[in-house]
Amino acid sequence: MGASPLSTTNTDALRRAFIERVLACRPTSVLDVGAGAGTLVQACRAAGIRALGIEPAGGGEGVLRADATHLPAGDESWDWVTLRHVPHHLRRPAEAFAEAWRVARVGLWIAEPCFGRGSLSEGERLGLAADRWLKRLDRRRGVFHADILGSAELAALLPPGARVREEFIPGSGRWTAAELAAEREHSARGLTPFAEEESEWKLLVSAAEQGRVARVGSLLLEVRRE
Ligand SMILES: C[S@@+](CC[C@H](N)C(=O)[O-])C[C@H]1O[C@@H](n2cnc3c(N)ncnc32)[C@H](O)[C@@H]1O
Repeated sequence: MGASPLSTTNTDALRRAFIERVLACRPTSVLDVGAGAGTLVQACRAAGIRALGIEPAGGGEGVLRADATHLPAGDESWDWVTLRHVPHHLRRPAEAFAEAWRVARVGLWIAEPCFGRGSLSEGERLGLAADRWLKRLDRRRGVFHADILGSAELAALLPPGARVREEFIPGSGRWTAAELAAEREHSARGLTPFAEEESEWKLLVSAAEQGRVARVGSLLLEVRRE
């Protein structure tokens, strides 16, 4: 679907934090499902860890063409299977999670974008509203892009008996109006939003101009076999 223009310091810092946590588990092997550009795969390989990425259309070095629901791997053949910011891209998340669990020996590291826990602050609510607004345009263009899955939705996809540890890493900084506009351009690609969407968008832009729209953070789940 192409890279989002919001490739900010925040995005990079969240990805680094995830990679650090995976490496801290001292794995001997990592299968990264929905590997994107292969950053985690490269980081693992640089640390001497056997690593492979999975992408539906394939990718660069170390990223194989396959789907999350049919992993080319035997049962418990990888220490950790990782899905970072992938669940809301999956048409069949339950199948994909079951498949990841099948091939994982130690467990899963899962992350989903997240604006906050419990009752959200005004900035977090605005960030979430902007995220949903943009995803609606993606969907109208025919791209599968579900709203982000929360903690309970992710937990419901996990196998019974799995031991889960959660951590929320807040985003840093606020969306600027220019970033919002660039993101809209990326999602719209010529689509004209409906009139009621335009009025919501104006409110979001005005909030961004006042520095009130929180950037996204990340919800991390370390899921281990008992
Ligand atoms: C937001 S990106 C995250 C990329 C990377 N994990 C990262 O953290 O930078 C979501 C990725 O999931 C991939 N994806 C979507 N559906 C998938 C599927 N059915 N099987 C495997 N990967 C999938 C997309 O191609 C995309 O690269």
